[in-house]
Amino acid sequence: MLNGGLIPGRAYLIKGGPGTGKTILSIHFLMEGVKNGEKVLYITLEEPIEILKEDMRKLGFDIDNPLFVGIDATPVKEKRSIFEGFHYEEFAKGFTELVRAVRERLKEDKFTRVVIDPITMIKLTMEDELEYRRTFLAFLKEIANYNVTLFLTSEVYEMSIEDYLVSGVIELKTFETGGKTVRGIKVVKFRGSDFDETMRPYKITSSGIEVYSEETIL
Ligand SMILES: Nc1ncnc2c1ncn2[C@@H]1O[C@H](COP(=O)(O)OP(=O)(O)O)[C@@H](O)[C@H]1O
Ligand SMILES: [Mg+2]
Repeated sequence: MLNGGLIPGRAYLIKGGPGTGKTILSIHFLMEGVKNGEKVLYITLEEPIEILKEDMRKLGFDIDNPLFVGIDATPVKEKRSIFEGFHYEEFAKGFTELVRAVRERLKEDKFTRVVIDPITMIKLTMEDELEYRRTFLAFLKEIANYNVTLFLTSEVYEMSIEDYLVSGVIELKTFETGGKTVRGIKVVKFRGSDFDETMRPYKITSSGIEVYSEETIL
C-alpha cells in the first residue's frame, strides 16, 4: 500500500477511533526496527506502560528486548518522574515540556524510530491552539534533525494541524455490517511517494495486525 514502505526520517500520523489498532500498529512499526537491531522509543500518554507491555507480550511482540525503550507519560496524581528531572505535572502543562524531554532522550541515545501514543492527549493539555501549532511545528523540525521516523497516533477524525504538517497520514476505521465488524486501513496522504489510495481490509489477530492489501471492502 505504501509502494515499498515509509520514507525514513519523517513524521507520520496514525488516525482512528478507540480500539482500531493504532497502538498495535505503532508497536509493529517499532518492533520491525528492533528486529533490525535498531533502538526504538515508545512514549505512552494513555495506557500505563506495564499494561501495554502485558498486552503486547500476549500478541507475541518481543517487548522486553532492551532495544525497546518504553516511557510512561500517562497522567498520574502523585508527582512522578518520567525522564530524569521531568515530572508529569510539568508535562501536563503542555507540549513544550514533552518536546524538551524527548529532545534530551534523543541526544542521549541513537533512536531510529519514535512513537508518541496518542498525540491527542497533548492537545487536550494545551489551551491555546496557536501555541499548540507553533510548538508542534517546532517539534517536527527538531525531530527532523535526529533522523528518526516518527509515528503520532490520534483519535481526532477531523483534519487538523497535524494532518497538514506530517509527511503521511494512515487511517484505521471500523464498520458494522450485518452485525459483523469490518476493519479498513487507508493511506490518506504520503508525501514523496506514490501509494495505494484504496481502503483495504485488515484484521487484528493473536499475532497483531494483518492487512489484506489485494482485497477491497464490500
Ligand atoms: N489477541 C487479539 N485478538 C484479536 N483482536 C485483538 C487481540 N488483542 C487486541 N485485539 C483488538 O485490538 C484492539 C485494541 O487495539 P489498540 O491498538 O489498543 O487500539 P487503539 O490504540 O486504536 O485504541 C482491541 O479492541 C481488540 O479489538
Ligand atoms: Mg491506543
